[in-house]
Amino acid sequence: MTLTSPTTLILGGSGRTGTIIAKEMADRGARSRTASRHGSDVFFDWDDPATYADALEEVDRVYLVTPVMRVRYADQVAMFLAQAESAGVRHVTLPSTYNGDLAPDEVDVAAVETLVASRKAFAHSILRPAWVMQNFADNHLPVINGTLVVPSRGGSESFVDAADIAAVAAETLLHPEAHAGASYALTGPQAITFDDVAAIIASVSGQPVAYQDIDQEIWINGAIAAGVTGDYAPMLRWLTGAIIAGNGSTPTGDVAAIIGRPATSFEAFAKRNVAAWTAREDK
Ligand SMILES: NC(=O)c1ccc[n+]([C@@H]2O[C@H](COP(=O)([O-])OP(=O)(O)OC[C@H]3O[C@@H](n4cnc5c(N)ncnc54)[C@H](OP(=O)(O)O)[C@@H]3O)[C@@H](O)[C@H]2O)c1
Repeated sequence: MTLTSPTTLILGGSGRTGTIIAKEMADRGARSRTASRHGSDVFFDWDDPATYADALEEVDRVYLVTPVMRVRYADQVAMFLAQAESAGVRHVTLPSTYNGDLAPDEVDVAAVETLVASRKAFAHSILRPAWVMQNFADNHLPVINGTLVVPSRGGSESFVDAADIAAVAAETLLHPEAHAGASYALTGPQAITFDDVAAIIASVSGQPVAYQDIDQEIWINGAIAAGVTGDYAPMLRWLTGAIIAGNGSTPTGDVAAIIGRPATSFEAFAKRNVAAWTAREDK
């Protein structure tokens, strides 16, 4: 394949990190193509392999957002990687999950890391983000009637800003040779509890917000009743279980080391996104 200039395929191109990476690429004069089912440059559906080829046309780097809200997707990723190799891809940046290499077998997180790392035709960088701060500003972990309900037993987490994940991803895609074979654990600057999260949102929004702990299985059943597919329960159990067990993420410094500025604090994130809580007075 002959490329006029390096071109990055951004899967999840309409998502939280993908949109920011695409803007960063454009700002820095680098070519990229976003791909997803809605609102991207090219239509791409993980569940329709016939859409893989168009997305991969004339790209040499991929930001590989795997299928979301499910736990079994290694076969689809393997099929995509085989096509990516044939298409001439030379670098893949994989957003995985904090401690993804230690994920339980019930979820394909570790298996997909291994799939990406074992391909010899291209280099890779693996990003392992902590819980993303944006979960609190969208419909993942909303404040409802002034209450934030998540199982934690007082455990803490070093929540990370999706913008910081995107900034790191952009560096790996713009300078793949500097990050070949690297794995980065992406966290915020502090480990904080959900009580801290509630207090910061309350302080920034000027509205009362309380944190309420909950039994893990009751919370997972509530998520399923609210529309999350039951197949996703093992992922929710793993992610919340780490915090409950006191093994939530701790600050690593990887974000600052790669992008040259400190990782965003939860307070700064909350101030930037205050409309998420002040515009929802009915909730
Ligand atoms: N949330 C967290 O706390 C957290 C923590 C660690 C790691 N992560 C991981 O970080 C990665 C990046 O997530 P993000 O936050 O940037 O994404 P996101 O905002 O959750 O968006 C998901 C993206 O995937 C696309 N998508 C969904 N179903 C698809 C399908 N069947 N085929 C093709 N595209 C599909 C969506 O677009 P369409 O719906 O338009 O197709 C969207 O662009 C994910 O792998 C996530 O699991 C998340």
